[in-house]
Amino acid sequence: MTVSKSVLLETLPPDLDCNRLPQHVAVIMDGNGRWAKRQGLPRFMGHRRGVDALKDLLRCCKDWGIPALTAYAFSTENWGRPSEEVEFLMMLFERVLRRELKEMMAENVKIRFVGNLAGLPRSLQEEIARSMEDTKENRGIQFTVATNYGGRQEILQACRAIADRVRQGELQVDAIDETVFEDHLYTAGLTPPDLLIRTSGEMRISNFLLWQMAYAEIYVTQTAWPDFDRKAFHQALANYQQRDRRFGKV
Ligand code: FPP
Repeated sequence: MTVSKSVLLETLPPDLDCNRLPQHVAVIMDGNGRWAKRQGLPRFMGHRRGVDALKDLLRCCKDWGIPALTAYAFSTENWGRPSEEVEFLMMLFERVLRRELKEMMAENVKIRFVGNLAGLPRSLQEEIARSMEDTKENRGIQFTVATNYGGRQEILQACRAIADRVRQGELQVDAIDETVFEDHLYTAGLTPPDLLIRTSGEMRISNFLLWQMAYAEIYVTQTAWPDFDRKAFHQALANYQQRDRRFGKV
């Protein structure tokens, strides 16, 4: 009897332990530009292919039972890129959101954007608000996209929001603990990432989820983001399952 490809793709590879999968995977999708250059293509083609890689990873997480995926799509520092590239990326985010919303609904994806969303183009803000509103009752995979996001800036805005509540007399200084602090981060309610994957070789966190990443296992691969496929993800998960996570204990 032949097993269809789709059945095979949906199955967790047998060497992975389904009880020890990360419950939240975060990705720094680096290397789109270098990938494009190597193919003799313009940089924007790398970003386009990057969207396909992200879609595949989202589906793979769903198939393999990983409940949360967070992707770093645009950092507060990325505004420093050439204006044509920034404009292309903003247009790409908007177009992808519009195009994929129906499928995300069908696949029960709950999408959320984190970052300084007010600093994004108005039409993108509207598309973001619509996608979050339409998918808010979905109970499948939690897909978070960090856009105009900076970890230091997120921590600062949480401090300001907490200070404001203290000033209003709503909160006592002594009551500020880790839980209260986390409630004021963009990621409130989301479990912290167990695994951070960075593609394209750089060994940096690049201002991504600074607070949330305290105990994440970090996996860096030389593979460029557009080439990061199921096989590469399988390798990352196998590597993760070999780690001894002690959380500061012996
Ligand atoms: C880094 O590669 C990648 C980005 C700054 C953009 C990533 C965005 C996407 C893949 C689109 C995601 C879309 C949605 C809707 C979530 P780079 O350009 O820094 O590569 P380089 O280091 O080789 O130049």
